[in-house]
Amino acid sequence: MTAPKKLFIKTYGCQMNVYDSERMAEALGGQGYVETSTADDADMILLNTCHIREKAAEKVYSELGRLKPLKELNPDLKIGVAGCVAQAEGEEIMRRQPAVDLVVGPQSYHRLPEMETKIRKGETALDTDFPEEDKFEHLKSRPKAKRAPAAFLTVQEGCDKFCAFCVVPYTRGAEVSRPASRVLQEARDLVERGVREVTLLGQNVNAYHGAGDAGDMTLAQLIRALAKVDGLERIRYTTSHPNDMDDDLIAAHGEVPELMPYLHLPVQSGSDRILKRMNRSHTADSYLRLLERIRAARPDIILSGDFIVGFPEETDADFEATMDLVREVKYGYAYSFKYSTRPGTPAAERALVDADVADARLQRLQALITGHQREIQNSMVGRDVSVLIERAGREAGQMLGKSEYLHSVHIENCTAQIGDIVNVRIAEAKTNSLTARHL
Ligand code: 5AD
Ligand code: SF4
Repeated sequence: MTAPKKLFIKTYGCQMNVYDSERMAEALGGQGYVETSTADDADMILLNTCHIREKAAEKVYSELGRLKPLKELNPDLKIGVAGCVAQAEGEEIMRRQPAVDLVVGPQSYHRLPEMETKIRKGETALDTDFPEEDKFEHLKSRPKAKRAPAAFLTVQEGCDKFCAFCVVPYTRGAEVSRPASRVLQEARDLVERGVREVTLLGQNVNAYHGAGDAGDMTLAQLIRALAKVDGLERIRYTTSHPNDMDDDLIAAHGEVPELMPYLHLPVQSGSDRILKRMNRSHTADSYLRLLERIRAARPDIILSGDFIVGFPEETDADFEATMDLVREVKYGYAYSFKYSTRPGTPAAERALVDADVADARLQRLQALITGHQREIQNSMVGRDVSVLIERAGREAGQMLGKSEYLHSVHIENCTAQIGDIVNVRIAEAKTNSLTARHL
């Protein structure tokens, strides 16, 4: 028997990519690959790239430059680029870095086995098509192997919103939803493999409108159907757009116990002028009113958001409006980024904010957000939460998992097993986690 070939996947960016990397590893498993955790001993290296922020393409080219010498040490080594940079750059990648054997866009991962065969013959393989037919073919996982208790499940891809700063509608294409029957089948399959919690993924997940038995289903309807899957105890979804939070989805937060009290709902800015320039088609006020309705449905919900600071033409007053909005909402988590130009997007043509000014704003915003995050985490002390056990901790008898609010919780003297859901009382808040005792 020949030794298995080793596959090293380096994943950048969002949870969609983490999910896709798992599927790529499964697809290549059929070609005799096992995963390894270092590039040094790999027979194939795949960079699963992200294009959403930073100078993504340049970073990929410099990473490829660093990997190239490994080919001299191992002449059988193949290097591939996947993900959004692969989609955006296409053939250019092989032209600029001839050490690359394979370029595959996010819609073509199901073709990886045949592409692998091709590159093993010494050819190169490129596939960045947007297929019309089964866009989710590449996501079909091979059932069997046991999975960790919390899994991602992609239900929707692409985006039609065209925020002026964002490259997703160009790299991931138009919004497409996966038929509900397929999602439900995959959920049942995941449960059989040990999964108890799914996070439904999509770039614009609450715009979901997959085919159901009686016409298209909304995300709320899909969640209600998933909640009936035996053994599936917890449901989350991300990322959502404020304009797609319909009444039924808001109601589901109050009515479906399996739907966890946590919502990532990016607003990007607190200034109406900037929101308009971002093509967000909501205002700060409409967003705040929306949060009021969500909190009325589920008062203990923890909110999370994304912010861009230093968007072109952002003034001090615009930035202060963002700070005010953050103070009003008090996010349990929030992610803030300095604006960076994505070529080809409408905002790329506009005048940039001075880099030092943008840096200073980012620091102030992050300090405010971190303060709230800690405050909310500290306020959990003394409260009873449920924890899905995901792994053993470093110390004897300690188990680790996530609460319904997505806080990491360490449980002392715990006899529960991975995959169990246990009720505990929070005893202490540390910087990035909570400690708990069994009730
Ligand atoms: N510059 C900075 N941040 C960006 N994001 C998307 N595009 C850009 C950009 N050009 C951020 C948004 C989005 C998150 C995933 O990444 O806040 O919600
Ligand atoms: Fe990008 Fe806006 Fe679509 Fe989110 S909603 S993926 S930020 S275009």
